[in-house]
Amino acid sequence: MQAETQSIVVISKDPAVCALVASVAQFQPGTGVKKCASALSEINGTALQLAKDNDLIIFRAGAEAATDAAAVKEMLRHTGGTARILALADTSMPFADLRLLTEAGVQDVLPETASADEMSAAIRKCLKAEEPQPLAGVSTRGSREGMVVAVSQSCGGAGATTLAVNLADCLTRRRGLRRQEAEFKVALLDLDLQFGAVGSFLDLPPNRCLYELASEGFVPDDVFAEQSMSEAALGLWVLAAPAEIAPLHALKPEQVQALVAHLRQQFDFVVIGLPRALAEWLTPVLEASERLLMVTGSSVPAITQARRLLDFYAEASMSLQTDIVISRERKPIVAASHHKEASKLLQKPFKYWLPNDPSAASAAVDRGVPLSAAAGRSSLAKAIRRLSRDLIETRKARAAAAQPQHGKAV
Ligand SMILES: Nc1ncnc2c1ncn2[C@@H]1O[C@H](COP(=O)(O)OP(=O)(O)O)[C@@H](O)[C@H]1O
Ligand SMILES: [Mg+2]
Repeated sequence: MQAETQSIVVISKDPAVCALVASVAQFQPGTGVKKCASALSEINGTALQLAKDNDLIIFRAGAEAATDAAAVKEMLRHTGGTARILALADTSMPFADLRLLTEAGVQDVLPETASADEMSAAIRKCLKAEEPQPLAGVSTRGSREGMVVAVSQSCGGAGATTLAVNLADCLTRRRGLRRQEAEFKVALLDLDLQFGAVGSFLDLPPNRCLYELASEGFVPDDVFAEQSMSEAALGLWVLAAPAEIAPLHALKPEQVQALVAHLRQQFDFVVIGLPRALAEWLTPVLEASERLLMVTGSSVPAITQARRLLDFYAEASMSLQTDIVISRERKPIVAASHHKEASKLLQKPFKYWLPNDPSAASAAVDRGVPLSAAAGRSSLAKAIRRLSRDLIETRKARAAAAQPQHGKAV
């Protein structure tokens, strides 16, 4: 790709933005930069043509994210989904606005304070996405473009493993009289390397694959990814944590990135259980995640911890969409004052609530099966099913937006 001429258009009234992109691009051979001193929302027709004629559009997001998002969607529609678009935004841009932009199809949203290195990496990433060769060994044939959902917890025992296991199980959406058909193929990856309990929740033996990755350092290919998975129930494939304690930092970001990329190719959903500790390899997981579910209690220490983790995650992946899941509490009819305070501290609403249901939770764990098999009618099972339905809807909407002409079903 280096020898080819690539053109970048910067749409911004701020000359500093153009200057930054130009200074970065001069180190990328064969890359030209054009400037358009305007706001994206003011040049609709021109923007469509620019998107068609150039390899990358970089624009400064305006105050109206919805207008920018609509323009981005138009550019993608106009180019059959091939336009590459980067946005620069104010660091105080609300999360909901960021979400509008990424959902519209913006590849990445950078803070306007981005350094030259950050800008350079983002440009390279966007332009690389056009190359025909994806990650080594990833087959594009029959790609499922799975939706990655990461599950994190603010404190031990919050119920993250319970959610990850049963969410993955519900996402298979089994149908038929005896539920003998799974609509979706789901991977459940337990990246809580040292304390992962997914295997024991589903009565599966520990799996050495993650230990091998951590200790031998190779980058996994699609065959490794495929062969690492064990089928726990119809449509539900699991990569459990190893029995041996692997040092958390032994895994490398490129290994985890490749593993997740292969699983995305092979599965419709990839549910990933995260450790509570921080590690460098979390960045590629967060970057690949379309949704992060933060499972937490509503007590002050739990919320404070959730906030710290969310801040770290947001730094690793600015466009990450997070939903808060309050565990072991029913949604109150009227929010209590401590709920309002906690929600304010997290700067997010409490989107999902999982009721305290010890008999259902232990019935499933004791038998080593998902809630659907042990207590399918319990309030906990129903709450997780509702959450899974939202994610299935999101995935369907994403697939429909990506291929409007063909109306590709998921
Ligand atoms: N909503 C719930 N109601 C009652 N018990 C629960 C609930 N969620 C989880 N549990 C139980 O709490 C314990 C810890 O749950 P787990 O999912 O392993 O938490 P984490 O992964 O966050 O540490 C398990 O015994 C589980 O069965
Ligand atoms: Mg756990």
